[in-house]
Amino acid sequence: MTVYTSVQLEEMIARWPRVRLTSLPTPLYRLKNLPGEFGLQELLIKRDDLTGLAFGGNKSRKLEFILADALSQEADTVITWGSLQSNWCLQTAAAARKCGLKPVLVLFKTYQLSSLDQGNLLIEKLLEADIRIAETEVGGKSPDQDQAFRFLAEVAREEMKKGHRPYLVSVGGSMTGGSMDKPLGALAYMLNMIELSGQMPDSKPPDHVVVATGSGATQAGLIVGARALGLNTRVVGICVSDRKDEFLPRVRKIALELVEALGLKINLDDRDIILFDDYLGEGYGRVSAEIATIIRMVLQKEGLVLDPVYTAKAMIGLLDLARKKFFQPSDRVVFLHTGGTPALFAFSEWLLP
Ligand SMILES: Cc1ncc(COP(=O)(O)O)c(C=O)c1O
Repeated sequence: MTVYTSVQLEEMIARWPRVRLTSLPTPLYRLKNLPGEFGLQELLIKRDDLTGLAFGGNKSRKLEFILADALSQEADTVITWGSLQSNWCLQTAAAARKCGLKPVLVLFKTYQLSSLDQGNLLIEKLLEADIRIAETEVGGKSPDQDQAFRFLAEVAREEMKKGHRPYLVSVGGSMTGGSMDKPLGALAYMLNMIELSGQMPDSKPPDHVVVATGSGATQAGLIVGARALGLNTRVVGICVSDRKDEFLPRVRKIALELVEALGLKINLDDRDIILFDDYLGEGYGRVSAEIATIIRMVLQKEGLVLDPVYTAKAMIGLLDLARKKFFQPSDRVVFLHTGGTPALFAFSEWLLP
């Protein structure tokens, strides 16, 4: 087991092609009003909702490596999928346009929306992304990776007939497959752990980082980053869509692929992958009264906007874990805000009483 310095890790990562899409580092600061009420001495927030590309979010960091890979494969079109209000799809469309590529988005109807012109979809339409709305067979859930790639392969064939060179990437930029054969999303989040640990007050690493887990690479990259730096930081993933027994193998697979891709000499254990699936609520993309309440509370106490699909659930989880004394009172807890806020405007009918 080797412990690496941040400089060593940054040098390894610097060998990977990257296009600049973000303005980094994102801010890290202490929240003022929430921690005391929930029995925490210190709760910090890392604002990855402020990465700078089209409303920001965790996906813009990943896309710096993914679009560089697409460009190195001489692609002129990026094809991916997500749900109707997918933050990933918006970020991909913005990144693709910025790099001169055509975005094609397959949006699966995993939930009902009364308008297809709001939130992320509005911005995707302003970006003139090629949007295909698709039905799902699995009620309330996204199709699995194989089904979705079969769908994308058909779209890719159409694009190739028109003379395009497509790059296919899976939802969230997390799992390898399609045109992406390295865990580039997780690579970006390993860098985030390096950035975060360098920003901590008094240089003391966080005891816990709490994050919404959707397609897995954000958590996987943070875990690998923490272990490679020799930190005891525990990365707590709050599941937003599936049960933890479905997430654990995904996060493990991505993390192990990253360790291998970088040739890191570190051991990973399933105990490193901490997941809670107690906060799924009514299911993926369904906005419950509890979600509306937390969004209102955090906005009023901290002036901070959470999104209804990911970060609201992660915050519900964090505050409940604090209440249940999962954290020690003296623990330094960091909430990673992963963005997604434009979706708020698509869910107003569930958010307002
Ligand atoms: C706003 C937001 N937060 C968190 C996540 C989860 O990140 P990951 O897909 O890397 O698990 C996503 C995407 O799924 C997201 O859109």
